[in-house]
Amino acid sequence: MSNEWIKVAAPATTSNIGPGFDTFGLALKEPFDIVEGRRIDSGLMISEITGPGSDIIPTDPEKNSVCIAAGEVLRKSGEDFGIEFRIKKGIRPGSGLGSSGASASGGAYLAHLMCGEKLSDNDLVLCAAKAEGVTSGGLHADNVAPSLLGGFTVIRSYDPFDVISINPPENLGVVVTLPEIYIETKEARKVIPAEVPLNHLVFHVGNASCLTYGMATGDLDLIRRSIQDLVSEPNRKNLVPNLKEAEEAALSEGALASFLGGSGPCIMSFYDKTSGNGNNIAESVKSVFAHADIKCETWVTVCGKGCRRI
Ligand code: HSE
Repeated sequence: MSNEWIKVAAPATTSNIGPGFDTFGLALKEPFDIVEGRRIDSGLMISEITGPGSDIIPTDPEKNSVCIAAGEVLRKSGEDFGIEFRIKKGIRPGSGLGSSGASASGGAYLAHLMCGEKLSDNDLVLCAAKAEGVTSGGLHADNVAPSLLGGFTVIRSYDPFDVISINPPENLGVVVTLPEIYIETKEARKVIPAEVPLNHLVFHVGNASCLTYGMATGDLDLIRRSIQDLVSEPNRKNLVPNLKEAEEAALSEGALASFLGGSGPCIMSFYDKTSGNGNNIAESVKSVFAHADIKCETWVTVCGKGCRRI
């Protein structure tokens, strides 16, 4: 294989989505990271990282998501060449938008292309999830699965690993509001209890099942009713000031549902693109944070495809 540069885009994702802690994920059209790589004789190295938050991302290949995931793919594909990387972050770390997951997915996908695409979807996602295990304080695949496969993804099982992806409804609009607050996933995972009561399990199984059905059949009202969470958000709500007010502001502008994205601080709002106005939702959430002197970045976007070569 030649040593020409190959470039891939790896999208941001939202995870948990109410009842699906560590299970559900959704690829977004934007923002995304760009990962470039070229074959070298041996070893993994990063020659450049740019973009938001790049100053705090480790370049040590043993600690960097791109390199860890790519190394897993090379190993599993039975290849021993090396890769030099250039990374352009589009998703800042500590956002709840799957920043480390996008990098891991970009690294895994690039290495997968370079190795001649020998791995199954399950194996590829698992390689990227291993990087999450190293960098985020626990192996979870709910960001890397949608970033690699696109659409709405469900991790059926971690051991043995099994993931599916389904196409979300076309009229599902997504508003991302990212306040200027930094939350490390590793820290946010420490506030989640190791065990949940049986009645919470019952509540989550019901809502998770119906959310998946709503995604598969395009039933936006069922999606709205099923975004319920007794595990992640109630335990993390104090990490994001004004979270409830922000969600209420989105709902008052016609959002179907508004919830904490992944481990936060981003606030995700779903709306019906055929009748709702994503810009109004974004502005109303932003104004809640503006009153608290917290700046926000927003994206009015849609569900996206997974990693792609550009
Ligand atoms: N499911 C993970 C969590 C996602 O909530 O900790 C982290 O972005």
